[in-house]
Amino acid sequence: MKKGLFITFEGIDGCGKTTQIKLLKEYFEKNGKSVVLTREPGAKGLGTKLREILLNYDGEVSPNCESFLFLADRAQNIDIIVKPAIEEGKIVLCDRHIDSTVAYQGYGRGLDIDRITKLNDIATSGHKPDLTFVFDIDIDTSMARVGKEKDRMESAGIEFFKKVREGYIDISKNEPKRVKLIDGTQPIENIHNQVITEVNALLDAE
Ligand code: TYD
Repeated sequence: MKKGLFITFEGIDGCGKTTQIKLLKEYFEKNGKSVVLTREPGAKGLGTKLREILLNYDGEVSPNCESFLFLADRAQNIDIIVKPAIEEGKIVLCDRHIDSTVAYQGYGRGLDIDRITKLNDIATSGHKPDLTFVFDIDIDTSMARVGKEKDRMESAGIEFFKKVREGYIDISKNEPKRVKLIDGTQPIENIHNQVITEVNALLDAE
């Protein structure tokens, strides 16, 4: 798939991904690069239907079913949006991807991590991000930023989010080359500068 660049953004709810994605997009565009934004779940089309179920369905959802819905959306995102853009040499910035399923369904819901990793591999046909940012924030900051209006996932509770956060920290330790853990409680500009430093280090190494 190599030609463009595939960068993903991760972290618990309220970690500041959206702000950083916007700033990085502007940075690339100032430098004459073509950027495509996408997200999981639900970038467009069928994905938005899956997102609606995943975030708003109020009946029982088994963790296994939940995983497969996120994975189905992921397959669609990779095939329809990410892969074509990368092949055209574009930079794809994706709000959540494989590590969300490991952190939320694996660490959070308690599903087997190796199995999720294998399923991620199948859903993405083995395409991995070139670089991943995890913005780490504490649970109190997360809860305060999310506020009272919570979707189905955000309503999972403090213990759940503690496990998800630990998951992200483990992921960054296990794959330090791809996954960069950044303190998400710092000022926005500091975080942005760290993101740019990592991106440029990757581009220089290529
Ligand atoms: P998010 O992008 O945070 O939506 P919003 O910015 O509107 O809150 O993602 C939605 C939720 O889905 C979030 O709580 C994390 C969760 N999620 C998983 O549990 N597993 C996954 O594989 C993905 C992609 C997301």
